Amino acid sequence: MRILVIGGGGREHALLWKLAQSARQPELLCAPGNAGTAELAETCAVAADDVAGLLALAEARAVDLTIVGPELPLTAGIVDAFEAKGRRIFGPNRRAAELEGSKAFMKALLARLGVPTAAHRTFREHADAVRYLETIGAPVVLKADGLAAGKGVLVCDDLASARAGLEEIMVRRVFGAAGAQVVIEEFLPGEELSFMALTDGATVLPLASSQDHKRVGDGDTGPNTGGMGAYSPAPVLTPALEAEVMETIVRPVVAGLAAAGIVYRGVLYAGLMIANGRAKVLEFNVRFGDPECQVLMMRLRSDLVDLVEATIAGRLAGCRPEWDPRPAAGVVLAAEGYPGDPAKGDPIAGAVGQPASIERALFHAGTARIGGEVVTSGGRVLTACALGADFANAIANAYEVVAGVGFRGMHYRKDIGHRALARVGEAR
Ligand code: AMP
Ligand code: GLY
Repeated sequence: MRILVIGGGGREHALLWKLAQSARQPELLCAPGNAGTAELAETCAVAADDVAGLLALAEARAVDLTIVGPELPLTAGIVDAFEAKGRRIFGPNRRAAELEGSKAFMKALLARLGVPTAAHRTFREHADAVRYLETIGAPVVLKADGLAAGKGVLVCDDLASARAGLEEIMVRRVFGAAGAQVVIEEFLPGEELSFMALTDGATVLPLASSQDHKRVGDGDTGPNTGGMGAYSPAPVLTPALEAEVMETIVRPVVAGLAAAGIVYRGVLYAGLMIANGRAKVLEFNVRFGDPECQVLMMRLRSDLVDLVEATIAGRLAGCRPEWDPRPAAGVVLAAEGYPGDPAKGDPIAGAVGQPASIERALFHAGTARIGGEVVTSGGRVLTACALGADFANAIANAYEVVAGVGFRGMHYRKDIGHRALARVGEAR
C-alpha cells in the first residue's frame, strides 16, 4: 500500500514515523517534506497548498491513501478534490474545515448550539472595533479572522496594547488578508488543554489528551507561537471533565455540522480553556496539533493505518485506540527570531541518526538537506520527544534528546511540562 502524507512539519514527520511502524508496511511519500521525513519517505516537491499538483501526484503515483497534515490544503478543498476523483483522503472537506478557516463561522456555530466559549463580537470596520474595545476594556483578546499560522491572536493586558493591536491587524494588516475581519473576544483565565478526537461524522473517538505551550518564553511569557512544546496526557483532564467535554462540546459540534449537511471526517481538535473544572472553547483546529501530534504518536500503540482507514470508511464505531500508559514530552527547538522572522540556513549538528529507540525521537520541521548538510529552514526546527516512566522522567529524557542537537541561535523552553509536574506533585 502506498501512502502520501501532505505537509512538512514535525507533525508530519511524527505521522510518518508512526506509519513506518505499521504492520501493513506501507510505502511512504511526503510532499513537500523536510530533511527528517526524507529518512522515512520519498520526498515529492509539491507544495502543501498546491491542490491540483497534489492530486496529479496521487494519480501519477497511484497513491492508495493520502493523509493531510496542515489546515491550508483542507480549507482550500483538497478533500473535495480528491473525493471527486474517487481517491481516499484523510481530513475534513472544505465546508467542515471552515471550523478552523473562519473564526466567525466557528463562533456562529457554537452560539447556535449553545457550546460554551468566550463572548465575542466580529468587526469589519476599524472605527467600530475601537469603539467596542473602549466599552469592554482589558484584558481582551484580538483575533484576525482568517488563517495566520497560529499567530493571528493577540492577548492584550491593557487598553493601550489592544488599541495598537487593532491598528496592526486592521489597518497595517500585519497578518495580511486574515485581518479583513477581526474578532474581539472576552479574555478567559485558566489552563489550556488540547482535546483531539477522531470522527467519521457519526462516531466520535477521543484521543489521548495533551497540552501545548503557546508562549515563546519560560513561565508562559512573550508572544504566542505555533507551540513550543507538548506533553501527554494532560492531568488537568479528569475522567469527569472528559465526559463533559464530549457531551457539551465535541459531540454537539459534530452533530451540529451533520445537521447542517456537513459530514466531518478526520481529526477534530478543540483548544479548550479549563477553569474551575469547566471547559470553554478557545478555538477549533481541523487537523492534528503540532507539537501535540508528536507526543500522541509517541504514545499511540494502535496501528495508525487502521485508524485512518476506519475514519474514512465510517467504521470508527468498532475502533478503540490503545495508548502507552507512560507519559510523553516534546520540546520544540526554534530558530533565532521565531515567532518573528526566523533565521534560515544554519547547519544543524546531530539532526539525523539519533535516537534509535521508539521511546525517543527527534522530529524535523523547518529543516532542509543542502548537499550533505542538514540546515534550518523555518521557525520551528525540531521537536525532541521521549516517553518516560513518569512526567519527570519523560521530560528529562526529552531534554536528553535536545542535548544531542545544536545550531546557531537555537532557543527552546526549559520548562516544558511544568503544569503537569505541579498537578501530579512530581519534582523535576
Ligand atoms: P487561538 O488560535 O484562538 O487558539 O489563540 C491562540 C492562543 O491565544 C490560545 O492558545 C490561547 O493561549 C490564547 N487565547 C486565545 N483566545 C483566548 C481567550 N479568549 N482568553 C485567553 N487566552 C486566549
Ligand atoms: N499547537 C497548536 C496547533 O497546532 O494549532
